[in-house]
Amino acid sequence: MTTIVAIDGPSGVGKSTVSKLVARALNLPHIDTGAMYRAIGLAALRNNIDVRDADKLEQLAGNAQIEFLPGDPPRVLLDGDDITGLIRTPEISMAASHVSAIPAVRRVLVRLQQALGRKHGGVLEGRDIGTKVFPETPHKFFLTARAEVRARRRYDELISRGENVDFNAVLAESVKRDEQDSTRADSPLMYDESYKVIDTSDLTISEVVARIVAAIS
Ligand code: DC
Repeated sequence: MTTIVAIDGPSGVGKSTVSKLVARALNLPHIDTGAMYRAIGLAALRNNIDVRDADKLEQLAGNAQIEFLPGDPPRVLLDGDDITGLIRTPEISMAASHVSAIPAVRRVLVRLQQALGRKHGGVLEGRDIGTKVFPETPHKFFLTARAEVRARRRYDELISRGENVDFNAVLAESVKRDEQDSTRADSPLMYDESYKVIDTSDLTISEVVARIVAAIS
């Protein structure tokens, strides 16, 4: 039996850093499902497709070849092209949030995530891993943090990558995107009593990782 660890939560709670370290501690692949929605967002922008056009996006998602190569950092390929470095901008974040509301896009990507997870197990981070992708796993964690703390983390990350951004704009974008992700009809960001909820606002990364690893082993 392969081990699946689901780590869900809104943007800026430290999901990526935590998931990567949990994966390393448990010797499992780290699967960043948000990167896949970002890939479709980028593909839509590249093809001049409106990110709310469900019909065109369904076609795009059906035809796009998304490959995901676990590693450090994991690589995302779109039609054979390595787009890992292109999908972390605020523009792609918003495009990803829009395309992720389209059921046909979710169907394609959820299938890909299930196939990847079933191969070798994995630590999957996203919004719906424990509710939709692997609802049967006993290892479900929902990370939360206060909105200002999350925006500050996102801001620091963008600045460290050399992006020129304004803190209030990052805060507004983060609040808007979380609202979109939480109120969409298909697989909204949510958790139930099968999750262990961890508020990361006042915890260090290693404290969060230690709690998760301890709960699994
Ligand atoms: O985790 P992230 O910021 O890279 O995710 C980008 C967008 O993709 C996010 O706004 C919501 C969406 N997403 C989703 O709907 N389901 C997932 N499993 C992962 C991400």
